[in-house]
Amino acid sequence: MMQPISHEEIKKGAQLLSEGQLVAFPTETVYGLGADARNDAAVQRIFHVKGRPTNNPLIVHVADVESALGVVDISRSFSPAEARRRFDALAHLWPGPLSLVLPKDLSIAPSVSAGGDSVAVRIPNHPVALELLKTFGGAVAAPSANRSLYISPTTAEHVLEDLGNEVALILNGGPCQVGVESTVLSLLEETPRILRPGAVTIQQLEAALGCPVNVASRSAGSIGPLLSPGMLAKHYSPHTPVLLRSALAPSSELPGRVGAILFAPKPLPFPVAEQRILSSTGELAEVAASLFAALRELDKAKLDLIIVDTCEPAGLGEAIMDRLLRAASTEG
Ligand code: TXA
Ligand code: MG
Repeated sequence: MMQPISHEEIKKGAQLLSEGQLVAFPTETVYGLGADARNDAAVQRIFHVKGRPTNNPLIVHVADVESALGVVDISRSFSPAEARRRFDALAHLWPGPLSLVLPKDLSIAPSVSAGGDSVAVRIPNHPVALELLKTFGGAVAAPSANRSLYISPTTAEHVLEDLGNEVALILNGGPCQVGVESTVLSLLEETPRILRPGAVTIQQLEAALGCPVNVASRSAGSIGPLLSPGMLAKHYSPHTPVLLRSALAPSSELPGRVGAILFAPKPLPFPVAEQRILSSTGELAEVAASLFAALRELDKAKLDLIIVDTCEPAGLGEAIMDRLLRAASTEG
C-alpha cells in the first residue's frame, strides 16, 4: 500500500516551487511538471527538461477561482462582460479537467504562454495538487510530466522513468483517476472553441455556457503559428508502432510479436504476445483511466506492433480517440 503524502512533503514541494525548482505532482488527469508561473527562468527549465518546443504554451494551475482571475486579464477580452459571464459559468465545473484560454495577465511569465498573449488556466481536482497550490499560494505552470511527444504519465513511477533525474521532487499521489488530459477551451473568440478534447465534454460545455461551442479541426496544427500545439498530428506516441484495430483488414499481415490493448474482454482472431484488457465492461471512464499505463507497459514489452481497440468518438470517447489517432499517426 502506498503511504499517503504527508503535509510536510507538500510543504517541501511548495518551498521548492518558491525557490524556482521543478516539482512533479498528481492531478486527476495526468501528473504535471510544475514551476512557479511568475518565474520565467523556472518555467524555461520545464521546456528544457521535457525537450518541449518553445512555441507550445503551458497550462497554469491554481487552487481557487480568485487566483484564476489573477492569472487572466478579462478586461482585454473581445467582450469583457461576455467573457466574464462565460468564465463564471464554466468556473462551476472547477475543480476539474477543464482549462480555459483567456488573455494573459502580465504577471505571468512570458515563457508560460510561449511569448503569446493568452494563457490557459485550470483548478485541478486532486487533493494533493490543491494542497500544494494552496500552500505555495501562487500559480503553477505545469505541462504533463513526460518527455515531449511521449505518453503522458498517470503514475509517479511514469514520471520517475521519464524525468527522474531532472525534478527536485515527485509527489506520489497514486494513479490518476481520469487518465486523459484536460479539455482545453478557448474563450478568445465570439464562439468558444475546444482546442483539445478531454474529460469535460462539448455537451457539458454547451449546457454550462448556454451557447454553441466549436471544435478545432484535428489537422490544424501544421501550418502557421500553432493554435494549440498539442494538436500536432503525432503525439502521445509509444516508440513501438501503433495500429488502431479499426484500421486492421482481415487480410493484414501481422509482424512477429504483436501486443493488443482491448477495451473489453473479447477473443482476438490473431495470436498476441501480450495483451491488456482495460475494462471488464468496456466502460470508457475505466478505459481512459488505464489507457496510458497500458501503452507504456506494452511499449516496454519488445513488441513489433501494438494493436489498440477503438470506440465511438463521442463523450469521453472523443478524447480517447483523439489521443489514439495521434499515438497511431505516422505523420511528422
Ligand atoms: O490535464 C492537463 O491539462 C495536464 C495536467 C498536468 O493539468 N496538463 C497538460 O499540459 O496536459 P500539456 O502542456 O501537456 O498540454 C497543454 C495543452 C497543449 O496542447 C497546449 O498547446 C495547450 O494546452 N495550451 C496551453 N496554453 C495555451 C494557450 N494559451 N493557447 C492555446 N493552447 C494552449
Ligand atoms: Mg503533454
